Amino acid sequence: MSLLTGKVAVITGAGAGIGRAHALAFSQEGAQVVVNDLGGDRAGGGKGSEAADKVVAEIKAAGGDAVANYDSVATREGADALLWTALSKFGKVDVLVNNAGVLRDRSLLNLTDADWDLVHAVHLKGTFYCSQVFGRQLKVQGKGGRIINTTSVSGLLGNFGQGNYAAAKAGIYGLTRTSAIEFAKMGVTVNALAPVALTRMTEDLKMMKGVSADQLGPQHISPVAVFLASDLAADITGQIVGVEGAHLFLYKMEKTAGTDKAPAAGIWSPREIREAWGKISGS
Ligand code: NAI
Repeated sequence: MSLLTGKVAVITGAGAGIGRAHALAFSQEGAQVVVNDLGGDRAGGGKGSEAADKVVAEIKAAGGDAVANYDSVATREGADALLWTALSKFGKVDVLVNNAGVLRDRSLLNLTDADWDLVHAVHLKGTFYCSQVFGRQLKVQGKGGRIINTTSVSGLLGNFGQGNYAAAKAGIYGLTRTSAIEFAKMGVTVNALAPVALTRMTEDLKMMKGVSADQLGPQHISPVAVFLASDLAADITGQIVGVEGAHLFLYKMEKTAGTDKAPAAGIWSPREIREAWGKISGS
């Protein structure tokens, strides 16, 4: 039996790039797939049904089962409507992949409110809305489930020109850790991918010059999503899996061993902190 037979998977932003690869891979493993995509441009302008429809057609042509949804995950109404699409077509949900994304890169000094708000609305609020709406449904169903979020090296380590995006992606890191803790009692695992892949989001980046689709295409990311969605990963939650082509690894928040001051010696003074900085920072 395939890894996701009998599962219903909802994948946001599945009309292109990594989301499309997820949708095809999930279907190949037997899942019924809800292909969500707003169908706009990379910066979040416009909308349309073509992107999601094309992926649904690809899945059906390969013998799979899928339905399209064109709502924006950036609104609560959109997240509600997405759940409704899944329930009305397939009667339940098992897996949510929060993948939809937009990019509005500018250095911090040049960011506008609109650049900040839109990027946060799609990435962080979209992940919150969908996690809450689908989490409530998974609780009612009472059979556990899987949530797979999408963060980024930009949010985890920082990147020039991506203050808005990095902050939103770092927020997704925190939300992943916290929802993994909160949803554990429902049998719902929550993990995140931190991918690097050649898509329309990254095709004009310097680091992608000369990189081939074979080396760094979205097809490398989706097997990890399938793994996390499957019974193979029932015991894995709260993890951030880096996927860069064939290279797989985990991101971990570091806490140094630090150092203590004896209570009798009073509170730390700024100069003592300077002196102890080597021990505090673990260097
Ligand atoms: P992409 O631009 O090819 O695909 C993103 C999809 O999300 C598009 O089809 C778009 O229409 C859809 N979308 C945008 N706003 C939406 C909304 N409000 N509601 C529903 N759908 C919406 O980009 P890519 O590269 O496939 O990115 C997928 C995810 O992976 C994003 O969250 C991105 O931030 C993340 N990521 C990608 C990296 C890469 O190297 N490509 C690196 C790190 C993270």
